[in-house]
Parts: sequence; structure tokens; C-alpha cells
Amino acid sequence: MMRPPGEPEKKPRIVILISGSGSNMLAIAEAVKSGDIDAEVAAVISNRPEAAGLQKARDRDIPCVGLDHKEYQSREHFDVALMRKIDEYEPDVLVLAGFMRILTPDFVRRYEGRMLNIHPSLLPKYQGLNTHQRAIDAGDSEHGVTVHFVTEVLDDGPNVIQAAVTINADDDATNLQKRVQQQEHIIYPIAVKWFVSGRLVMKDNKALLDGKQLPEAGLRLEQ
Ligand code: GAR
Repeated sequence: MMRPPGEPEKKPRIVILISGSGSNMLAIAEAVKSGDIDAEVAAVISNRPEAAGLQKARDRDIPCVGLDHKEYQSREHFDVALMRKIDEYEPDVLVLAGFMRILTPDFVRRYEGRMLNIHPSLLPKYQGLNTHQRAIDAGDSEHGVTVHFVTEVLDDGPNVIQAAVTINADDDATNLQKRVQQQEHIIYPIAVKWFVSGRLVMKDNKALLDGKQLPEAGLRLEQ
């Protein structure tokens, strides 16, 4: 549809949910700022008002909200309040960037098909926590990170993109995590860019890029 003359172009709106340091949020915000992602970060919302990432967003003049989950009597009550807050910003895409909460089915259904998550493992391996240590303990030769659409099963949903890193003999969880995070900051902006430009969609529980179904593991970015 043609935009009426004089009316400013409405960019796709990204709302980012965080719980911690917000390094993935920053990688996406920087890609927006540089013009690599043609969109607007409408808000950053955290369930932890003290999250370091909120201050980083505030420093960049991004609207910020701290919504403390501890102030709600149940997961359901918190998710209802969170949905209300998110919807005030009218997002086209909801980006979970280290948002460490289990989501209620109502929440997932509301944003299904327009909600992405990043998980530090080569999903379907190592859903849940402590993924880096678990990969080392299992003697794996590689570890990595996955961006996927969020569906009702935790750390599940169609994979979009993965990046792998080699596990070295002397790796501990801390330095392995650092190398994985470097890859996170590359692949998450790519996935968000694909989504906001309309190239990436979820259909029938599959991730499609340019109309073609992505492999089960997602598109694999080699180091
Ligand atoms: C990231 O490493 C992300 O992969 C992980 O939380 C970290 C948040 O870091 N997410 C999960 O474990 C989700 N299950 P950040 O706040 O610096 O982006």
C-alpha cells in the first residue's frame, strides 16, 4: 500500500525482553542504529528492574521498563501485566534476549510467529541451563548458539540460525561462554534483520527464509 504523501515511513517495531547484562540487546540496538536493521527499538523491558542491560538501553535513549516479576502473585498475573506493557509499544517482533522466564501458554500464543529467542546451545541439544558446562562434561567437540522461534515448549520451536564454536581441551564454562557470546552478537542481529525485512516467517511450525524451509538445525553460520 502506498504511504500518503508527507506521512513518515513507519519502521517495524522491535520490543526486546532482557533479564541481565543485555549484550544481545545492545548488538541488536547497534545494528538498528547503524542502519543495518531497518527498524526501531520501541522498548527494552526487564523482569529485573536492576538488570544492567536496562541502564545500557537508557544510556542510548531507548525507552525502558522494569517490571518486577516478584511483585506479582503468580506467573499468570505477571505475564498478563507483561503483555499489557509490551502491547503499549505495538511490536512487530518480540525479541527475547536473555529473558530468563518460563512463559505461560497464553503469552506464547499471543506472540507466536513474531517472537524470537536466543539459546546458548546447538538446539535441540542442551535445552535449559548450564549449557556450556554440560557440553564440556559430555566431551563434545563443539558447542554453539541457536536463534529460534518461540513455541509453547521451552527452548523449542523452529530453528532459524546457528553458530558453532570448537571446544578446546583447556576450555572451562566461562571462556567457552565468551566465545559463544561473540557468535550470539553476530547471529541475533542477522535473524532480527531477516524478520523485520519480511524474509523470515514461521509457517506450520517451520521457519521459512525467502519462502524456503530452513534446515531443522537452522541456517548454520561457520566460524
Ligand atoms: C545469552 O548468552 C543468551 O544466550 C542466554 O542468556 C544470555 C544473556 O546475555 N539465554 C539463555 O540462556 C536462554 N535460555 P545478555 O543479557 O548479555 O544478552
